[in-house]
Amino acid sequence: MSSEPAAGDPHLGAVVVDADALQARIAELGAEITRDYHDRPPLLVGVLKGAFVFMADLARHVDLPVEFDFMAVSSYGSATKTSGVVRIVKDLDLDLSGRHVLIVEDIIDSGLTLSYLQKNLLAREPASLEVCALLVREGKQRRELDLRYVGFRIPPDFVVGYGLDVAERYRNLPYVCVYRDGESSVR
Ligand code: IMP
Ligand code: MG
Repeated sequence: MSSEPAAGDPHLGAVVVDADALQARIAELGAEITRDYHDRPPLLVGVLKGAFVFMADLARHVDLPVEFDFMAVSSYGSATKTSGVVRIVKDLDLDLSGRHVLIVEDIIDSGLTLSYLQKNLLAREPASLEVCALLVREGKQRRELDLRYVGFRIPPDFVVGYGLDVAERYRNLPYVCVYRDGESSVR
C-alpha cells in the first residue's frame, strides 16, 4: 500500500499518519477493546461520515459479538472552518438503554461535536458510554474530554484521508495527510 500523497494534487501535503501506522495502531486498539469488553459486548456507534473507514477496520480487530449503529451529525460545512453548530442529521436506529456504548469518532478538534454527542447519548441511559477517537488534534480542546481510546495525537494542520474529507473528497485515501488550502484554515 502506498503512503505517498497522490501525485499531482497540489492540495495534499505531508503524510501525518501512514497506512502501516494506522493499521498497526488500529489492531492494538481492537485488542484493547476486546480485553476491556470481554464480559459486556459493546454497541459501536460510528459518527458519520468521517468514522466509517476507521469503524470498519477497527471492528474487524474486535473479537466479540459487537453490534453497530450510526449517527450523522454536522458541525462543519464544506469549508475547513467549524460552524460551531452541531446538528443531528441522522439519528441512531437502536435503543441505548442498558447497552455498553462505544462512540467511534474520526477526529476530535474543538471537542464540540463529541461533548454534544456524549450529552445526547447519556440522556438515553446506556449502561456505559466510552469514546474511541482515531485522531486528536493537540491543544485544541477547550475543556478536558474523557477519551478512553485514542489512536494518534496530531499537530494543528487540517488533515484529510482515511475517512476525513474536504467537501466530500479524499475520504478514500489509505493514509492521513495535510490538506493545504490557500484561503481557509483551521481555527
Ligand atoms: P470538533 O467538533 O471541533 O471536535 O470537530 C470534529 C469534527 O470536525 C470531526 O468529526 C470531523 O468531521 C471534522 N474535522 C475536524 N478536523 C478535521 C480535519 O482536520 N479534517 C477533516 N475533518 C475534520
Ligand atoms: Mg467532516
